[in-house]
Amino acid sequence: MENSVINGTEVVESTDSENGNGLTIKVPIDMLCKSEGVVAHDIKTKKGAVILPAGVDISLFETSMETMVKKMRKEEIEHVYLNIPKQLSESDINSIIEKVYADGSELISKEKAVDVIKGVGSMFHSIREEDLSTEITASVSNMSADLTEDLIRNPQVAFSLGKVQEADEYTFVHSFNVAVLTGYLTNRLHPNDRDFLQRVIMGSLLHDMGKAKIPIEILNKPGPLTREEFDEMKKHPLLGANMALRTRVTDPAIISVIAGHHEKWSGKGYPAGKKGIEIPEEARIAAVADVFDALTAKRVYKSSMSSRNAITTILKDSGVHFDAKVARELLVSLGLYPPGSIVALSDGRIGVVVSGGGKDLVRPVVLLKTKGSGTEGDMPEFLDLKTSRDICVAQYIGHGEKRNLGYQLSA
Ligand SMILES: [Fe+2]
Repeated sequence: MENSVINGTEVVESTDSENGNGLTIKVPIDMLCKSEGVVAHDIKTKKGAVILPAGVDISLFETSMETMVKKMRKEEIEHVYLNIPKQLSESDINSIIEKVYADGSELISKEKAVDVIKGVGSMFHSIREEDLSTEITASVSNMSADLTEDLIRNPQVAFSLGKVQEADEYTFVHSFNVAVLTGYLTNRLHPNDRDFLQRVIMGSLLHDMGKAKIPIEILNKPGPLTREEFDEMKKHPLLGANMALRTRVTDPAIISVIAGHHEKWSGKGYPAGKKGIEIPEEARIAAVADVFDALTAKRVYKSSMSSRNAITTILKDSGVHFDAKVARELLVSLGLYPPGSIVALSDGRIGVVVSGGGKDLVRPVVLLKTKGSGTEGDMPEFLDLKTSRDICVAQYIGHGEKRNLGYQLSA
């Protein structure tokens, strides 16, 4: 066991608690009514009578907690050690996440997300049918304008939106996620440049349109591609840029995102092998968003990586694959505890991070898992750790899954 003191609260990392690999936390008795967990050691009076036995869940004492605390105060007991199980159940996580959405703190409504994804889907369908009329990109242009307004009105990032169920839908959901994240990062790097933002969002929605011409067996192959298949796949940025031009999309920022989102800072990307700032900035931003979404997506052949690990992976490659300035912006935006992270706080409470901490990477806004969560009429309780300086994140527990958009796209 290893003890550490964070903001006056003692946190004991435990590897052998009865809860499995859990966390033992020292909770001031005044905070017990707000805490969750299992009593780690018998709490006894000076004469040895047990007040709280080890192994009981303190939620059982909810109604009698006040009396219990009075008794402990009389006995000059100041703290109680609680074991917190490391894993929340899936229903716990879902009930917390549902509350976030019920509170309206999502960035873009589910209905709009589904509309955009379906719009990208029908564009792919038209391309496969050899229909390259200007109409197919005109509707994407309208969606881009709409997303631009949303991002400017509510410039905070929420959860990544799409949990991918069907392999065929991956590209469409991915296009939407990349557009939102690219737009978000662009808005942070160039605030108030609405025109540029809209063009970058449109480029991101179209960034993989060339994949509509890649054989479906390669596109949806459940596993790594052979060298020949990968060579085929690598054609999609230029195929896409040419298609966009044929639909009279000629804006340089839009074309740069489509053609350049697989270029690498080191010059080892494709299709042109451009290096550093030779790569247009909008393509460098889209490259980070593209890989972030690919890493955090759940596919048939791979489970999803947590946002936290995806950020670490991208940071490791910053200055090699990615523009360090953009990678750093991703870190600052999402923080060390990105939205969706499940965390244990130093006062014993557990919650889900709903937005990053801005400059203070370790102080996000947390939606608390309050007692009785998930029942109708429960008010969500948010805690901004930037203003609640006496409380901090004691442990990163895990990450909720991407949200299921709950739709089926007909082929
Ligand atoms: Fe791509």
